[in-house]
Amino acid sequence: MKTNLTAKKTANQKLIAWVDEIAALCQPDSVYWCDGSEEEKDALNKQLVASGTFIPLNPEKRPGCFLARSNPADVARMEHRTFICSEREIDAGPTNNWADPTEMRKKLNGLFKGCMKGRTMYVVPFSMGPVGSHIAHIGIEITDSPYVVVNMRITTRIGQNVLDVLGSNGAFVPCIHSVGVPLQEGEQDVPWPCRPDDVHVVHFPETREIWSFGSGYGGNALLGKKCFALRIATVMARDEGWLAEHMLIVGVENPEGEKTYIAAAFPSACGKTNLAMLIPPEAFDGWKIHTVGDDIAWIKPGEDGRFYAINAEAGFFGVAPGTSVHTNPNAMATCRANTIFTNVALTDDGDVWWEGMTKEAPAHLIDWQGNDWTPNSGKPAAHPNARFTAPAGQCPSIDPDWENPKGVPISAFVFGGRLSKNAPLVYESFDWNHGVYMGATVGSEKTAAADGQADIRYDPMAMLPFCGYNMGDYFDHWLKMGRAIPKAPRIFRVNWFRKDDQGHFIWPGFGDNLRALKWIIDRVRGRVSAVESPIGWLPYYEDIFWNGLDFTREAFSGLSDINKKAALHEADGQKEFLSRFEKIGKLPEELQHEQRMLVLRLQRCGDTWKLPRK
Ligand code: GTP
Ligand code: SPV
Ligand code: MN
Repeated sequence: MKTNLTAKKTANQKLIAWVDEIAALCQPDSVYWCDGSEEEKDALNKQLVASGTFIPLNPEKRPGCFLARSNPADVARMEHRTFICSEREIDAGPTNNWADPTEMRKKLNGLFKGCMKGRTMYVVPFSMGPVGSHIAHIGIEITDSPYVVVNMRITTRIGQNVLDVLGSNGAFVPCIHSVGVPLQEGEQDVPWPCRPDDVHVVHFPETREIWSFGSGYGGNALLGKKCFALRIATVMARDEGWLAEHMLIVGVENPEGEKTYIAAAFPSACGKTNLAMLIPPEAFDGWKIHTVGDDIAWIKPGEDGRFYAINAEAGFFGVAPGTSVHTNPNAMATCRANTIFTNVALTDDGDVWWEGMTKEAPAHLIDWQGNDWTPNSGKPAAHPNARFTAPAGQCPSIDPDWENPKGVPISAFVFGGRLSKNAPLVYESFDWNHGVYMGATVGSEKTAAADGQADIRYDPMAMLPFCGYNMGDYFDHWLKMGRAIPKAPRIFRVNWFRKDDQGHFIWPGFGDNLRALKWIIDRVRGRVSAVESPIGWLPYYEDIFWNGLDFTREAFSGLSDINKKAALHEADGQKEFLSRFEKIGKLPEELQHEQRMLVLRLQRCGDTWKLPRK
């Protein structure tokens, strides 16, 4: 078989033998080892344009940018087709799809046999985290999709330098991906080959392996992201004493030059990218926001007793709809050049558009499925889960330390969801264990980032679809980490999405979220008081910085007051959710205790807990 492997590339015999083995199974026409160079990128882009996968965009408006339209049946992560194949079912836990590893291997062997016929098999060495950082880890993705290669090239660090760090004996996570569509001799390829009915996204936690078949989209196919950096990494983190989390990392600098780093977990499509890049409101004179990461944080204990975090990725795979120069100018600037757009609309002058980018839609577009579109078409022009893949280094707010191999010190963990009712803007946990309870009971309303979600679902630590082992054990790991870290970050909950009776957001959100972050920082630094409520420490109205925003005490009370009946009902829901772990003996005692204390505190308060004046 044709291959460009030379002795110079790698002497790692385990890697070479594994690539040979997968090539023998998948039977590609040739094997190509990626070096991560510019020439390689240009050649792949050219090839993607020739095959119709990529449409080049107007080089004046979007230099180096391309549009890809997926198969309409392959537009998001497929959670019901995602499997954790641990040896024992209990180790996958009640929130994952478990399948017997022996059976699954048989099935995968059948699916992958000859699946790359007529195609090139790409070998992509990648580093999650700065190459060589002690917090980083290496993976190798084998894929038959050049679209995946060019996306991995942006979202991770790929190429020869990764092989150099791997050396002849280094460990790597093997990741195998195929779109699952062999090509007959002389047959013309389709722009987006996939097999939606046969999708399998499979993880073997004990052997730390990933096999993905049938989808070319996002988290199903860019295996460094959710599959490795979360599902497999959570298992590594449990075994090795660190945290792999669905968290953005942001540094907030005040006018005095004091910088505080916060890591925040919100479920998919609930505002991580936006918070990571926020623009301070005008009244925040001299404040700066420094973006480290927008989706995945790897967090390890440092020698000084604090947690240090790195962005496991090198680029953003961001939600396009709703992104505009008003909501997120930094994201707009980031995706101006060298960006891959997937499932957005195309304008007549070769630019992109999506819902929310401008107030008024252009009079004519080509929609994400390639059809003519006008504002009267009665359907969205971009898919609600349309995405941009852009290099993080292009973000105007990128932190000078975003590639620091040591990571950045974390002072606060923040959990949040998308709740239109009964959730305060911001509050702090009583202590670490209570904070873990607050994270474990995050609820959120449905979004387009995954198919087939319930209207509201509990999404502990925003990790429900991403924890590679029993979530009850994951809670226990969080509790353990709190005991192991002398200077543990403080833990907070936030919610930007509360709505009034007319269905309008009560909180302005976006840049104004800095008002909540400022309170969090003032708490962490011991500069501000708080009021004890049945659910945690809440801010006084007087302690939030309101300059430049007309937000009345009444409106803030509306966000903060706790309706006893509703809160008890919610606590019941939490109990029921957690009982799934309790039933199998996997709910830590500490969380059972927190649950009982919450109910007691609520039972002892009046019909409505009212935010007092300071
Ligand atoms: P993933 O990449 O799927 O993990 O999503 P994410 O958590 O990074 O979400 P993102 O920041 O892309 O936001 C998703 C959607 O929520 C976008 O349409 C945003 O415009 C919207 N959004 C983000 N922040 C806010 C906010 O503070 N208020 C309101 N109302 N909407 C917001
Ligand atoms: C998410 O769904 O949380 C994402 C997009 O960030 S994906 O890469 O598809 O997982
Ligand atoms: Mn995400």
